[in-house]
Amino acid sequence: MLPFCVGLTGGIGSGKSSAARMFEELGVVVVDTDAIAHELTRPGGVALDAIRSTFGEEYIASDGGLERPRMRRLVFSDAAARGKLEAILHPLIRDEARAHVADARAPYVVIVVPLLLETGAYCGLTNRVAIVDCSEEAQLERTMERSGLAAAEVRAIMATQLPRARRLAAADDVLHNDGDLAALRQEVQVLHRRYLSLAHAARSADGAT
Ligand SMILES: Nc1ncnc2c1ncn2[C@@H]1O[C@H](COP(=O)(O)OP(=O)(O)OP(=O)(O)O)[C@@H](O)[C@H]1O
Ligand SMILES: [Mg+2]
Repeated sequence: MLPFCVGLTGGIGSGKSSAARMFEELGVVVVDTDAIAHELTRPGGVALDAIRSTFGEEYIASDGGLERPRMRRLVFSDAAARGKLEAILHPLIRDEARAHVADARAPYVVIVVPLLLETGAYCGLTNRVAIVDCSEEAQLERTMERSGLAAAEVRAIMATQLPRARRLAAADDVLHNDGDLAALRQEVQVLHRRYLSLAHAARSADGAT
């Protein structure tokens, strides 16, 4: 039986990685699909042959890994190209994530999937979906500060993601992140207690059958 699994998502810069670190500090195993995607596209990565044959040699860097800046520019300006890249990466990421979840020795697992609600590809894996939510202004400010991207570039990325209201409507649980990081930690602690008891109940139900 796979461990109880919480999908953690939210818009760009909403605080997913920050919240994931806080779960980790509480002893939860965190599986990060961004990190998996990075592994798959590093020199020697499993996704590179398909990327080369689909997009051409110019998307492979001199070290043999993905030429990230060029690919980023392409997929943010060309929805069809984005679809092709996702068709290559998503099944590989999902398989790898499932293996990590199956290996986890923890009361429950948090799997961080930036586009969980957009792709719906993890329905079989997650028992519950939590989102990190903050105002769009906070998203914009935090992302600009961290990445150095211009406001228009961040807005363009936000436009490819689900609108805030739709995300809120789809979530089972919400981590509110309009305050400081200490406030986010409190939100994480509340959900952690809930997930421990849900995971426990799921295990008991499984043992009873
Ligand atoms: N409540 C907060 N107060 C102040 N800074 C915050 C808060 N939450 C997050 N940040 C900062 O905002 C930036 C974005 O947060 P984080 O990396 O956790 O978001 P993310 O959702 O993982 O972003 P991405 O979509 O780019 O992966 C980081 O620099 C983080 O330290
Ligand atoms: Mg992140």
